[in-house]
Amino acid sequence: MPWSARLKSTVKVLSGGTVLFVGFSLGFGSEKFYRNVAMPVTQLLLNAESAHRFAVKTASWGLVPRNSFVDPPSLGVSVWGRHFSNPVGLAAGFDKHAEAMDGMLKMGFGFVEVGSVTPEPQEGNPKPRVFRLLEDKAIINRYGFNSEGHENVLKRLEERKKREKKGIVGINFGKNKTSPDTVNDYVKGVKCLGCLGDYLVINVSSPNTPGLRKMQGRQQLEGLIDKVLEARNSLPCSPKPPVLIKIAPDQTQQDKEDIAQVVLQKQVDGLIVTNTTITRPESLQSCNKVEGGGLSGPPLKQMSTDTIRDMYTLTQGKLPIIGVGGISSGQDAFEKIKAGACLVQLYTALAYDGPPLVKRIKRELDVLLRESGYKSVEEAVGADNKLS
Ligand code: FNR
Repeated sequence: MPWSARLKSTVKVLSGGTVLFVGFSLGFGSEKFYRNVAMPVTQLLLNAESAHRFAVKTASWGLVPRNSFVDPPSLGVSVWGRHFSNPVGLAAGFDKHAEAMDGMLKMGFGFVEVGSVTPEPQEGNPKPRVFRLLEDKAIINRYGFNSEGHENVLKRLEERKKREKKGIVGINFGKNKTSPDTVNDYVKGVKCLGCLGDYLVINVSSPNTPGLRKMQGRQQLEGLIDKVLEARNSLPCSPKPPVLIKIAPDQTQQDKEDIAQVVLQKQVDGLIVTNTTITRPESLQSCNKVEGGGLSGPPLKQMSTDTIRDMYTLTQGKLPIIGVGGISSGQDAFEKIKAGACLVQLYTALAYDGPPLVKRIKRELDVLLRESGYKSVEEAVGADNKLS
């Protein structure tokens, strides 16, 4: 065989082998391959927003690693009349327009939250508006509710319902930047999409829409909750979806006491604790820390866990809490559960570790529960707190 033909066949064999290896590693969700090769290469080739779009697109086509982990009974959680086969959910902000729900459920998440979705389509803030803080494994985003609007999300959710897809999907609502009536934006969301969600989230904690977080104040929150619950109660579906309020980590003790009193008194169904922070901890290393927006990932972890603990004790453990902020391991999830969360969510760690993260967190959490003498997640909820 001439040398050129030999070279050609060697290149063919080598590149075929590489494609097979990459395909296998990606398809079977090798943790090391994703963490050390696939994710760093993506970070080199694509800016943060393009990488996000790419991830949503591939998940919308179902191109996610096969989930080989069977959720053990210990990870099951029953709340709001629904059974979650595991407590690890995808936080809002990844699948803003309800494109990738089933791909993300296939990845192993116990539930997926879509949104935030605004009534009318809007562009959000000018780009660039998402920044990696590589040294801190964190993200700063100031997307500003880029949304395709209720109508488009409605079409996708109706299509999904027609196909009788299984899996728990929550819907997170935001407001349009120029809307003159904030309360009405949330009411519109509940009326338009309410019957298509397993739970509904009133997001009053995004730092990227001017004035939004003021809605967490006592009086504003009371007015908002009254109208939202009225809209939920008049939905034609049964059972009616639970309504949760998503709060910020940047609150004073008085703010937290006010929120706890209001949500208990108004009989809100749960809390999501927390959104991103506008603070910049001293520990941050990356030069992108100067960017404006909400910070997420490990630097947010402790603030979020502390807020969960505060809200759990202030509501005397009566209100289901979804804990979110800086979770990247089973230990992180376990800490939030012991602080008072019955379910958890994550987003930022997925951007650094890729899809195998979900399986790893579930596996680690299952081991930690057993080692600590708990039979289930439900038994461990709030274990770190003494309620009087
Ligand atoms: C978010 N988050 C978010 N939350 C929300 O309620 N509505 C939204 O539209 C968004 N958008 C969004 C975009 C990006 C790029 C990020 C990183 C985050 C907040 C998110 O749901 C979560 O509360 C925080 O990110 C904290 O969790 P992690 O990321 O530390 O696991």
